Amino acid sequence: MKVSKLKEQTVPKIFTQNEFKEIIIKITNKSDFNFVIENELHKNESDLFWKITNEFNDTKKPLAYILENKYFYNSDFYVNENVLIPRPETELIVEEVLKLNLDEKNLFDVCCGSGCIGISIKNINDSVNLYLSDISPKALEVTKINLDKHKIKGQLICSDYLEVFKKVNVKPDVITINPPYIDIEDQNVGESVRNYEPHIALFAENNGLIFYEKLFNDLDFLYNLNKELTIFCEFGFSQKEELEKLFSPLIVKYNIDFKKDYANNWRMFVITSKESHG
Ligand SMILES: C[S@@+](CC[C@H](N)C(=O)[O-])C[C@H]1O[C@@H](n2cnc3c(N)ncnc32)[C@H](O)[C@@H]1O
Repeated sequence: MKVSKLKEQTVPKIFTQNEFKEIIIKITNKSDFNFVIENELHKNESDLFWKITNEFNDTKKPLAYILENKYFYNSDFYVNENVLIPRPETELIVEEVLKLNLDEKNLFDVCCGSGCIGISIKNINDSVNLYLSDISPKALEVTKINLDKHKIKGQLICSDYLEVFKKVNVKPDVITINPPYIDIEDQNVGESVRNYEPHIALFAENNGLIFYEKLFNDLDFLYNLNKELTIFCEFGFSQKEELEKLFSPLIVKYNIDFKKDYANNWRMFVITSKESHG
């Protein structure tokens, strides 16, 4: 059957335009979607298309887990149910980090999951020394698959959050963190997210703020390792006010700069020390 015919039958009834495109690219192994759309699929390809469609319809499993793939910052990442599916708004961290001079710098991607943040940065600047840490050994298995897929080197460390800096004797220059930040009581979490994505990657105590509280408490320890350190951290779009309150006692020693994502939501902050020479 022609790809354009399959599209008529399934978009927008079952898939969005983008989801349809992701499936076709995956099953044909061709990246030029505009070329493929005019083609006929082989029988085995169209069988696979309907198998994916049925699984998606019957289970409501996120498509990325069915395809074991998510496109993030210009490349593909392997994903399974042990890692969060990379979100487009997280690309903002990558873009902001890439504005720094990263040559030969030590970059720690803490709470790395699939590794999408650290790996995307090292894909652009291979001179970065990359360290990826997560508390979940199963998530780190996925990170390893992505390091191999992208043919880049990085050190994997299984660690509880900022304990990683006590485990390795390396001075961090840049830290990126996309921690779990959803309040456990939050009723707005979509069904397929709650049913399929790892809860350890989604939910956090203290109204979703515990990872920020710990980070702010540990700033003196981290900046003792390196005064020039820059920390990039994602948060939920409604958490800015609470974060400002939590940060207010630290404002004498540290700068915090909040940034919006492409959907105009407050999404991340950047911390530097006021003692930095940069
Ligand atoms: C929101 S996901 C982010 C994954 C990935 N960095 C991304 O942006 O797609 C949070 C990650 O933090 C990890 N995590 C949860 N609690 C942790 C802890 N105490 N210490 C280290 N990592 C933790 C989870 O396993 C998960 O991979």
